Amino acid sequence: GEGTASDGGTAGVGDIVHEGLRNLEYRGYDSAGVALVGETSGLTVAKRSGEVDNLTVPDVPDAALGVGHTRWSTHGPPTDANAHPHTDCVGDVAVVHNGIVENHETLKQELADHEFTSDTDTEVIPHLIEEELATDPGLGLLDAVRSVEDRLEGSYAICAVREGDDRIVVARRGSPLVLGRDDDATFVASDVTAFLEHTRDVTYLEDGDVAALSAEGVEIYADGDLVDRGVETVTWEADAAEKGGYEHYMRKEIHEQPEALRQTIAGRLDVDGGDVDLDVSFPPGFLADLEEIQIVACGTSNYAGRYAAQLFEELSGVRATVEIASEYEFGAGRSPDRTLVVAVTQSGETADTLGAVRRANAAGARTFAVTNTLGSTVTREVDDTAFIRAGPEIGVAATKTFASQVATLTMLAVAIGRERGALAAADARPVLEGLRDLPGAVQQVLDAEPKVREAANEYGDSEAFFFVGRQLGVPVALEGALKLKEISYDHAEGFAAGELKHGPLALVTPDTPVLAVLTDGSRADETMNNVTEAQTRGAPAIGCVSAGEEYATLDVSLPVPDVGLVEPLVANVYLQLFAYHVANDKGRSIDKPRNLAKSVTVE
Ligand code: F6R
Repeated sequence: GEGTASDGGTAGVGDIVHEGLRNLEYRGYDSAGVALVGETSGLTVAKRSGEVDNLTVPDVPDAALGVGHTRWSTHGPPTDANAHPHTDCVGDVAVVHNGIVENHETLKQELADHEFTSDTDTEVIPHLIEEELATDPGLGLLDAVRSVEDRLEGSYAICAVREGDDRIVVARRGSPLVLGRDDDATFVASDVTAFLEHTRDVTYLEDGDVAALSAEGVEIYADGDLVDRGVETVTWEADAAEKGGYEHYMRKEIHEQPEALRQTIAGRLDVDGGDVDLDVSFPPGFLADLEEIQIVACGTSNYAGRYAAQLFEELSGVRATVEIASEYEFGAGRSPDRTLVVAVTQSGETADTLGAVRRANAAGARTFAVTNTLGSTVTREVDDTAFIRAGPEIGVAATKTFASQVATLTMLAVAIGRERGALAAADARPVLEGLRDLPGAVQQVLDAEPKVREAANEYGDSEAFFFVGRQLGVPVALEGALKLKEISYDHAEGFAAGELKHGPLALVTPDTPVLAVLTDGSRADETMNNVTEAQTRGAPAIGCVSAGEEYATLDVSLPVPDVGLVEPLVANVYLQLFAYHVANDKGRSIDKPRNLAKSVTVE
């Protein structure tokens, strides 16, 4: 998130920007930087990896405007060079950026005579601005940014400054930007928390808007025309504002899933071509000879792995197994040269998972990490990594990272299947269409939250909760139960639906609701038979049902949009919301459940 200020008053611009970055720091970013512009001092940039307090903001007394950034790495590890702002070759333009420039590699090739100093996608932006300004020296920064926008693909928000220009130019396409105004300064940030102590009068930019800010005010353009976006007054207190107005990070993060998933798939899907680009390459012949994919992970990440294992078998044509990381050994009968061990870990720091990776490495197997955290320990110990790009997750209970893990693993399954020749483009296409439509489908579920809240109110006081599904519905049932037990402290269990009758049915009473995944990929009709067996013993039943299907006997039916193999993943969002509302009704400590920690660094 960037916090920027344009100041005509007495407070130092550098200090205002630094304070704005501190206000965003609760998200746990990994690098920070600022760029300040003064009439005689020109452009001054300071940036470094680490927390915001690691950054020394230079003293630039004549600075009239500044931009700053706290980075959560997506392209390139957290190093000083990869921190924002990024500059051009001339050194007179500086840019901070959120989101992903999907076509950055193509653009880099087009900018062949420019020297790049970072691994980021962002760096192409100042260079493109430089090129525009060189082609037409009469151009102002505003026009240059507008032309550059036409060449960028992806979803992003940018803020740019230039020596000699007394305005900050910002553009929004898919990532949030909000403006603020007080008596002698103008502010812009990705999140209102950045400048809440200065003003509560804010203007939210819309997608496609470009704006120029000065100490006097703001001009906003849409399609080249000046527009008025109106002013709203923020009534939240700072604590609520950090959570975007939500009461808990967990609920905020549940609602961030469409945006997180958009970042996860950005620039990676070739739907028409039926292929995926995860920017990883295996040694020649490795995939052709592959005999087994072993997934190792803990907790929620393990359930993401169980989802993926089924997809590896179906889409990659390889035997796939999942192990709880703390239990993993490279067992007999396997050939290390023909085994790929995939560690799934949000934090990249889970000791149990690192232990499994070390055992796999010691056995000589090829190792691969799927993680949210650039620069994390796991990335240094494996052969290859794919990042899930979900953004920082603060709630101890994993939500958006589960969705982004499954989406990333699905892409990996397609990529491996395609490269092995096990998956035809025509068969990959519907899977990729499902991934493409996933953010929108999740949004539809989020829009139906009142219905889940009602179900949580009605059934939340039950004695225990059973979650069932088949096939891809099994990991989702396990995850639904884990989420509920973690944050509500109620007894909840997930089962393969067919197993209910082999034992757990003895526990079923009118006081034990059954929650079922009844979507594509989860053998819905057979699962419903098992649900009916529980209903016969008096249990209420809540089902997540594929749109267009109907099971008339369900007590609550929650519709899931049609996205094929990732439908159970969409159903999971209902289960997250159910867990949240049950726990919230009970007043639980949702973001920090008792006895649990976000990152478990002991074995
Ligand atoms: C549950 C949860 C944990 C983690 C597990 C692994 O909500 O968050 O079960 O999934 O501790 O953590 P990572 O993915 O960081 O390895």
